[in-house]
Amino acid sequence: MEDMTLVLFGATGDLAKRKLFPALYNLYLDGKLPAKLSIIGLGRKYISDEDFQSNVEKALRAYSRRSVQASNLPDFLSKFRYFTFDATIKESYEKLLELVESRENELGIPQNRLFYLSVAPSLVDVITTNLHASGLDQNEGWKRLIIEKPFGSNVKTARRLNDKLRKTFSEEEIYRIDHYLGKPMVQSLNTLILANPVLDSLLDQKLISNVQITASEVVGVETRADYYDKAGAIRDMVQNHLLQLVMMAALYLPENLAENKSRAKKTGIIESLRPIPKEEAHQHVVRGQYEAGEIHDVPVIGYTEEQGVGASSKNDTYFAARLAIDHPSWEGIPFYIRTGKRMDKKSTQIVVEFKHKMVDPDRLPGTSPNLLVLEISPNESISLRVNLKEPSDNQFKPVWIDFSTNSENQPEAYELLLFDAILGDSTFFAHWKEVELSWEWIEPLLEAYQEDLLPLHTYRAGSTGPEAADELLQKGQHKWW
Ligand code: BG6
Repeated sequence: MEDMTLVLFGATGDLAKRKLFPALYNLYLDGKLPAKLSIIGLGRKYISDEDFQSNVEKALRAYSRRSVQASNLPDFLSKFRYFTFDATIKESYEKLLELVESRENELGIPQNRLFYLSVAPSLVDVITTNLHASGLDQNEGWKRLIIEKPFGSNVKTARRLNDKLRKTFSEEEIYRIDHYLGKPMVQSLNTLILANPVLDSLLDQKLISNVQITASEVVGVETRADYYDKAGAIRDMVQNHLLQLVMMAALYLPENLAENKSRAKKTGIIESLRPIPKEEAHQHVVRGQYEAGEIHDVPVIGYTEEQGVGASSKNDTYFAARLAIDHPSWEGIPFYIRTGKRMDKKSTQIVVEFKHKMVDPDRLPGTSPNLLVLEISPNESISLRVNLKEPSDNQFKPVWIDFSTNSENQPEAYELLLFDAILGDSTFFAHWKEVELSWEWIEPLLEAYQEDLLPLHTYRAGSTGPEAADELLQKGQHKWW
């Protein structure tokens, strides 16, 4: 691991506080940071280095998965400096370069620079352009850019953004964060199958009926209406997280596909995703919006009553779709995906449902399909549902065989991703081709939204989503698990 500088744009923001500082601290505790590391946090307001370090400490105390240790805290905090910065002013970058260089000289570290952009999308262009103009990117060591979503708002704006980034950074130097790719269960899908040949033999095209990917949330729009009311579930969760999960599941679950885990294969999956023309969207896609309801017995307001949301908003807070992957390994196996806010529970999972038609219900009453469930968050577990006979009434009942890991010891997504970016391993970041193809697939659906070709269904807060989403699966004689 090479010594380096981390320049963090947006160091006073929420992401830095909740995720990035704790991730850095936990990497530090594990000895997974370079021996010499200079971290320069940037923000608009004036803060002294001491106050910034004390803010970092507060963030660790509030959000670190492991408690803060007095013995090493001063050493960790000594890596941080703060710089008051206005991204729109050219001189800010010249002064930043001076600070970066002076810390590099002081600590004797090579000019390896990792720029982390945790800023409003409107600033990305101006920052990368000025990084180049100021010479911050003309260093003797390596340079890398980590960028948070949203990566554009449609295929056109995503391409424009990418073209701009590519003026300063090559594709190999750009690390597009999709934090779902940092979740430990997602990262271990490949090795899970390799380590368990029995799972591989289960995941046989002839045995699988369908695959279901769910990312449900209990939270509503929170304080983000400004962004969310324009993005909706389709841009906020589907184009990135859900399609990445589809690619990962389709690529890594069968071992034969995982053998060559190159990016080309991952793009191969998204390329095989059958397009849904806008005129047919209503047959394959359900969009929804939450109404007032109750979550864990507490009444909550509907989406259009939320602060910052207009009473006539038609924004989607729920999305479900049936996908077809035209790939030899998945021919004839539907992938159902769904995501929603204000649902009954927080859960991200992949369910593989096995065919059940061959089981004779007269001879074996009460049986139901076998399921393999990979729970990604909030807990990590693998469960297999099998049928077991109740001696009392001679009926079969479904029984779960569960294996879960201890989540306290699990590194957070941002820890794994920051570590990879520091090492220069971009396996679990979203490659431009994947992002572009995802937007291309989403495009006709956005048009269907705009042209009102898709009805907006409602669902009660605290429920499992609109009834139309259940009907979507009933057409294929399936149901959500
Ligand atoms: C973010 C979305 O990318 O992912 C949020 O912008 C969403 O709206 C969040 O709540 C969900 O992430 P997780 O890790 O809690 O499932």
